[in-house]
Amino acid sequence: MRLLITAGPTREYLDPVRYLSNASTGRMGYAIAASAARRGHSVVLISGPVEIAPPQGVTVRSVVSTRQMLEAAVEEFVHCDAAIMAAAVCDFTPAHTAQHKQARKGQLDLHLLPTPDICAHLGAIKGSRIVVGFALEDRDGKTRASAKLREKKCDVIVLNGTGNIGSENGEIQILHASGEWEEICRGSKVELAEKVVQLTETLVAKVGSVRAIS
Ligand code: C5P
Repeated sequence: MRLLITAGPTREYLDPVRYLSNASTGRMGYAIAASAARRGHSVVLISGPVEIAPPQGVTVRSVVSTRQMLEAAVEEFVHCDAAIMAAAVCDFTPAHTAQHKQARKGQLDLHLLPTPDICAHLGAIKGSRIVVGFALEDRDGKTRASAKLREKKCDVIVLNGTGNIGSENGEIQILHASGEWEEICRGSKVELAEKVVQLTETLVAKVGSVRAIS
């Protein structure tokens, strides 16, 4: 199958040198891309700025902003059977980006607007393609993850705890569109990535490869 994977943070610039972002390392998305390539799939990884070497056998499209990630994802999704949305997308963007570096004087009030929701966008246009979303929650994990599954029209949501940030190991819990929760799965990020790819293979097999029939 052909997979689109998003990974890493996005950045939203306030001026030419300062930006809003988050602490995502991109490790999970890169582990998923590497695992999918090892399992013989064709992979396009749309990555925000990270310090990880591109996995072997994976096509990487590097982007910076959420808008760029959205445009690349929409372009690639038509050629894919499934999208795995592991990016930690920056939720807000400045209403105005200053043309020059803002001087440090007085108070600076920021007016922020929400960024486009890439996962929800792909969910809305997916047809028979599969969309795997992620949720990283620090409270009410299950409730919030199920709301996201519905709102973004995902086939599954992978719920992460905040303990997964930046660590080698982690735990995930998978929610299916049927409302069924799988058992918590613990392991290294490589093992968890393998689990997410296997699950995506199963879901794509159920609907049949879109590319094989289109
Ligand atoms: O940030 P949030 O918890 O809503 O993320 C849930 C899912 O939606 C994740 O898979 C994330 O990659 C995706 N997302 C996205 N575009 C956004 C926000 C989140 O694709 N602007």
